[in-house]
Amino acid sequence: MGRTNMGLHHPKDESYELRGKYSKIDRPSDSPLRSSLDAAYRHSSDSEFEDLDEFDPLNYDEGTLKRRKTRSKGERLRLPSNSSQKNVQRPYNRLRRWLIPSRMCCWLTLLFTASLILLLSAGGIWAYKSAPEDGQSPPWYPSPKGGTDGQWAESYRKAAELVRQMTLVEKVNITTGTGWAMDMCVGNTGQVARLGFPALCLQDGPLGIRFADNITAFPAGITVGSTWNRELMYARGRAHAAEAKGKGVNVLLGPAMGPLGRLPAGGRNWEGFGTDPVLQGVAAAQTIRGIQDEGIIATAKHFIGNEQEHFRQSYEWGLPNAISSNIDDRTLHELYTWPFAESVRAGVASVMCSYNQVNNSYACGNSKLLNGILKDELGFQGFVQSDWLAQRSGVSSALAGLDMSMPGDGLKWQDGKSLWGQQLTKAVLNTSVPVERLNDMVTRVVAAWYHVGQDDKDRWPLPAPDGDGGPNFSSWTDERIGLLHPSSDDKATGVVNQFINVQGEGDEAHGNIARKIAVEGHILLKNEGDILPLNRTGWNETVRQVKNTPFRVGIFGEDARGNVNGPNACKDRACNEGTLASGWGSGAVEFPYLITPLEALKSAFDNETVYVTDLPQNKIPDASAQILEDQDLCFVFIDSDGGEGYVQWNGVRGDRNDLYAQKNGDDLVLKVAAQCGNGEGDVIVVIHSIGPVIMEKWIDLPNIKAVILANLPGQESGNALVDILFGDVNPSGHLPYTIGKDAKDYGPDSGILRYPNGIVPQQNFTEGLYIDYRYFDKHNITPRYEFGHGLSYTQFHLSSLMVQQKKGNSMLPEPRPTHPIAPPKYDNGIPNPETAVWPEGFRRLNKYIYPYIDSTEDIRKGKYPYPIGYNEPAPLSPAGGGPGGNPSLYDTHAMVSVTLTNVGGVPKGAAVVQLYVGFPEGYKDPDTQESVDFPVRVLRNFTKIEINGNGERSKVSFDVSRKDLSYWDTRRGNWVLPSGTFRFWVGWSSRDLPLMGTLY
Ligand code: BGC
Repeated sequence: MGRTNMGLHHPKDESYELRGKYSKIDRPSDSPLRSSLDAAYRHSSDSEFEDLDEFDPLNYDEGTLKRRKTRSKGERLRLPSNSSQKNVQRPYNRLRRWLIPSRMCCWLTLLFTASLILLLSAGGIWAYKSAPEDGQSPPWYPSPKGGTDGQWAESYRKAAELVRQMTLVEKVNITTGTGWAMDMCVGNTGQVARLGFPALCLQDGPLGIRFADNITAFPAGITVGSTWNRELMYARGRAHAAEAKGKGVNVLLGPAMGPLGRLPAGGRNWEGFGTDPVLQGVAAAQTIRGIQDEGIIATAKHFIGNEQEHFRQSYEWGLPNAISSNIDDRTLHELYTWPFAESVRAGVASVMCSYNQVNNSYACGNSKLLNGILKDELGFQGFVQSDWLAQRSGVSSALAGLDMSMPGDGLKWQDGKSLWGQQLTKAVLNTSVPVERLNDMVTRVVAAWYHVGQDDKDRWPLPAPDGDGGPNFSSWTDERIGLLHPSSDDKATGVVNQFINVQGEGDEAHGNIARKIAVEGHILLKNEGDILPLNRTGWNETVRQVKNTPFRVGIFGEDARGNVNGPNACKDRACNEGTLASGWGSGAVEFPYLITPLEALKSAFDNETVYVTDLPQNKIPDASAQILEDQDLCFVFIDSDGGEGYVQWNGVRGDRNDLYAQKNGDDLVLKVAAQCGNGEGDVIVVIHSIGPVIMEKWIDLPNIKAVILANLPGQESGNALVDILFGDVNPSGHLPYTIGKDAKDYGPDSGILRYPNGIVPQQNFTEGLYIDYRYFDKHNITPRYEFGHGLSYTQFHLSSLMVQQKKGNSMLPEPRPTHPIAPPKYDNGIPNPETAVWPEGFRRLNKYIYPYIDSTEDIRKGKYPYPIGYNEPAPLSPAGGGPGGNPSLYDTHAMVSVTLTNVGGVPKGAAVVQLYVGFPEGYKDPDTQESVDFPVRVLRNFTKIEINGNGERSKVSFDVSRKDLSYWDTRRGNWVLPSGTFRFWVGWSSRDLPLMGTLY
């Protein structure tokens, strides 16, 4: 069948009416009339896999396939931001790029690959064989069907009604993206216009609407985690979703809860909420509730084990395969899966599987993870979408539980050779993918859409030609008029940016929420001699009279000022230039504005009594020494940046190179401390960072009086800092991770794997449960500032700890309950292949992904190499049976209560009260007599309470669930509540725990 588009029209196109957003379409008379909106008629041209019986799912699936075929290199390239086309083509000068010295890692990777080829050609076939051919992740089949949870009953009922009316190609259309940059959002699915099911717009990301105008740049996840404030977590999700709704986004690609932060230098830790599963889980669940209560589908990402950027993705790092995160079952359950379980409990409607492999099976084709843990054990009812190009196989990923291929391209960016689309149609017709699996995939997507109420036509008008819904912005250009399908050869243009302001107004302005979060996300780490809060007028009255000079304040460090080229000068914020308010990558947005610390500070001080000088640079020339010497008080701003690994800055390829402040920040602090007021001035250090920063070079200097970790505060950065510095708001942020004294203190395997250690880089999570504070506690290492630490201007007191048992301590949860409802039933007969052939006269866009097949001749049945274990149904997990797992895991087993008092003189303050649990010491499994090792203590609950000074009190109670008191027993495949004495600590951080009680 011919591959050209020329002159082919689908009849439907002729009557196509333009909707509002494209109403001023600038379309040449001979331009194609096709729009993304008739995407029910979609194709994939030049498919790589013409025959499905020969369609080897590219060997990238889990453990069963005999050979691994490598594909030519593909990489993800994005447009530099100085182009008005945001992100469509990726014109890189590759040679120049590779010659940059900072690309050493890539050079070494190349060297590694080249040596490997040499070795192979020299007969060293052993080297190739050393790559794990077969995955080590156990099989879990068949894929559990959605529609088993009572809370989703109505959504599934409606979804089934709609899906029953769909044809095969319509169903496939919903499961597959149209291709990178083919439509307006970073991910776009096909629609079923005939039945009123729209194309879905999927857009990043966790801190705001990416690639969009007139939005809010909220503080990043790590800042939100630092607030320990459940209400703010919810409020940010809700405001974020309101903006998504206003821009016509159906699915938000957040919150992020993986990486969890196993590696302190990990490039994307800042997108999530902190290095503890409970903190991460609460923040994720609250965000999801906020997003979905507003009618947007939230995405819990990245499932799972994507703890570093190096080698996260095939080809991106010069190797054909992504890294394998090798995680044992107990660690997987107690750490990395925990926040996802909380997300499922909160009703999350989508989960994104990650790029990496887990136990040598790609996460998006890993049946144990998707079918077994996510869908069976956690009872997930929504749909699993792949991270962008994380899908590495066709049939086997469908069997393993993937429901949506994003962005729809195949193994390479913008190749138009989808692993699904047309190929999925063939796979269903030739029976390699059971019809019932496809029905389940589609039903999950459609049910998710109903679940958040997007079928409400008043709130969600249909896209053109039936309404004016759909995305009203383009991810690919800032211009009003732009290409409708930028990645294809189609030249049709239209109004793609309507510049709708979604930031909210007045009291409802989202900037207010952004500021509140930024304020509460500032952590006061040190405040010697109560130097803070400051006085806007400088000296207090008595001192002023004695001194009789203005109070002189110096502001130093590039991090205080803005980027001279504007806050959005660097592509996806991938540079550390000027003040740092966001990390980089897909999780970043275009700042609508960015209040810098410098401008906020300068206008905060009373200019009659305070004289402010600024030198916002990191190198202070000797000639400027006088400036330092003249000051009474010096501020030093330093920072440390990183982000997603597809972009790099100054040798930082996503993951940070070390844990120190960047751009000689430490030297700057040392210089300022030495010379400020001739060594007698007071110094306040402010740090913006994506993760822990080691401060040992200067933290103990006597004139470094205060240190504030401002995290990544978003657009309201300067205002939030000022609110804290002057005591307009009492600081209440607490550390979401540990700040060590040395990178080594985090453990021998806590560094980034920077050079490949095999064809498939292997990363063993050898430390198991012992990450962050759990590692420090186990090995008795004193951190600089421990997890949970944060100071206030007032003082709180805890008293009257009470621990009450609420339920008997049986070792195992109740038997798994049967599902309250049954999944929808469909006619699972093989559809007539004729219905799947290109409609006559259909005009195709080059590389656009469609569901049609070229000819019924293409459907040949053959022997498909099903994964091992495919024909033996896996036993259901005893830990399953409800959202997030067996409902009895969430029964309250104990209650811990304390009395909180504000004993300080400051009128108002918010206290973060934290509950940690210690498991029975010396516990042995009663059957095997094997000892079970436990962390010294683990966070299990927390709350933030605002309380007035002068002795006001409040009672604080925490529920403790069975799961909180259980460990994952790999032999039983279940949560076990050990017998013995549990300890409950309540306090202010993982090491400042004034109260302790026990329960037997
Ligand atoms: C990231 C995802 C993101 C997607 C779409 C990927 O590179 O890992 O987090 O949602 O791109 O932009």
